[in-house]
Amino acid sequence: MKTLLLTTKQEDIKTAAQILRRGGLVGMPTETVYGLAANALDGQAVSGIFTAKGRPSDNPLIVHISAIEDIEKFGLVSQFPENAKLLAENFWPGPLTIIMPKGDSIPKEVTGTLNSVGIRLPAHAGARALIREAGIPLAAPSANLSGSPSPTTAQHVLSDLDGKIHAIIDGGESDVGLESTVITVCTNPPMVLRPGGITLEDLREVLGEVALSDAVLEKLRDGEEAASPGMKYKHYSPKAKVYLVRGGDDEFCSYVNSQNITETVALCYTEDIPHLSSHTISLGDKSDYGTQAHNLFSALRQADEIEGVTTVFVRCPDTKGLGMALFNRLIRAAGFEIIDLEQKPSYTLIGLTGPTGAGKGAVGMLLSDAGCAVVDADKIAHKALTVPECIVKLTDAFSAEIINPDGSVNRKVLASCAFKDEASTQLLNSITHPVILTLAKEEFEHLFAQGYRHIVFDAPTLFESGSHTLCQKIIAVTAPRELRLARILIRDGITEAQALSRINAQKDSDFYTSRADFVISNDSDLEHLKCQTERIIRELCL
Ligand code: TXA
Ligand code: MG
Repeated sequence: MKTLLLTTKQEDIKTAAQILRRGGLVGMPTETVYGLAANALDGQAVSGIFTAKGRPSDNPLIVHISAIEDIEKFGLVSQFPENAKLLAENFWPGPLTIIMPKGDSIPKEVTGTLNSVGIRLPAHAGARALIREAGIPLAAPSANLSGSPSPTTAQHVLSDLDGKIHAIIDGGESDVGLESTVITVCTNPPMVLRPGGITLEDLREVLGEVALSDAVLEKLRDGEEAASPGMKYKHYSPKAKVYLVRGGDDEFCSYVNSQNITETVALCYTEDIPHLSSHTISLGDKSDYGTQAHNLFSALRQADEIEGVTTVFVRCPDTKGLGMALFNRLIRAAGFEIIDLEQKPSYTLIGLTGPTGAGKGAVGMLLSDAGCAVVDADKIAHKALTVPECIVKLTDAFSAEIINPDGSVNRKVLASCAFKDEASTQLLNSITHPVILTLAKEEFEHLFAQGYRHIVFDAPTLFESGSHTLCQKIIAVTAPRELRLARILIRDGITEAQALSRINAQKDSDFYTSRADFVISNDSDLEHLKCQTERIIRELCL
């Protein structure tokens, strides 16, 4: 379908209103983020939203109105509690969604199996004009593809949903930049399910006691129910990997500068920019959370547009005021991964990596002789396949055939499923890498408790798995291709074709050497290898 690009002029609002009354989908500007609107009273129209976004159908939608009276006029709630009225008087029109007991007119497509419904009266004049003109309440989630950052411009909506929806109204940049605060009055005391432009402090001033859902600041444990279904999904993610970095100004800048700067973008404060040598995108001044919220989603999208960038380091806000909403979105964009520079590790972690056959093993042994503990990532990867939650996720992702009759993982079958194409390999990695990282961190702590102060993490996929971000120093071991081939043939007793396919599947030497602090070039005899390793041992004061 062709997506019409409309303005907020009266004739365009009329066109959009007509599309909505006929069951169509319209991208609607609001002061929080752009919404994807459909007639909230028409189940079939609403189901189109889920298809266009690729959204899980158990994630309920917010119903948007243009006047408080619409709630009773359209029978949207079975009860309009006094505290909800108080909230409406104080914060509407504005970025607050109030969850109330659901009325009979709401079709199941809007709220799934819940007996409550979220209602919001937006402040954006264009949104209110559209709802008024359409003469119906509008169900609207954020107008992004499920999982990606919410749109704050019509252009963002177009880039996610062009050709999948009937029209978009361009109403300028969204002012707040983060989705509305969601509060439920179905609990006692009322509870914030999602923080946004109206802060917890604002709400407590009006209502007194207000609780905060556990899911706002922390990851839900497996099997735990989210009061707000949307909070359980990974969200707001660009394609590059996002890390939230907690620490002071100098610590943040020197941490980012110590990374591979050409592949890195820092989402930082304006004040940081002169001190950073990586790519940078400013969120706003350090103390200006309003501007940071306004810019956040746009900045996450921009990160993907910088050539060669694979990693995004974002400054971690505190959780006061609007900071809570920023933190809530960022921690989800980062898949709950925080690099805490304030919590100094008490051991030095040395990453050891390189292509197969280069001689990592020999270097590991020399480092072990010098008093380091050596952790083998391949062994940890094997252990990860025995973790029950990992097994369940792998079975769901691939097939029940990867499980042996005794419940263990059949690694051969798994390999044949997971290495058949790039997408399957990525799926495997997205499941196993976080488990491997957790197990590895446990092992490091265990070795530290045993008295080791230098730990070597021997990992062929140190960078791909993200474990390099844990390391203070990285050693890459490389060797010419012919030498590596000869070594694998002897070491692993495999055919030349098998050895070559292994070598070809790996990155070239530059990939490792450009990212490492130390490079060992294992291109002659063992004595030469020893010499280079000893130099590193001296430099690291092992
Ligand atoms: O600012 C906003 O709220 C934007 C604009 C378009 O209004 N909309 C928006 O919608 O962010 P969406 O669908 O992306 O997020 C709605 C959130 C989800 O986390 C959902 O689970 C929660 O609100 N929600 C909706 N109805 C609910 C209900 N009855 N009970 C609990 N949570 C609910
Ligand atoms: Mg959303």
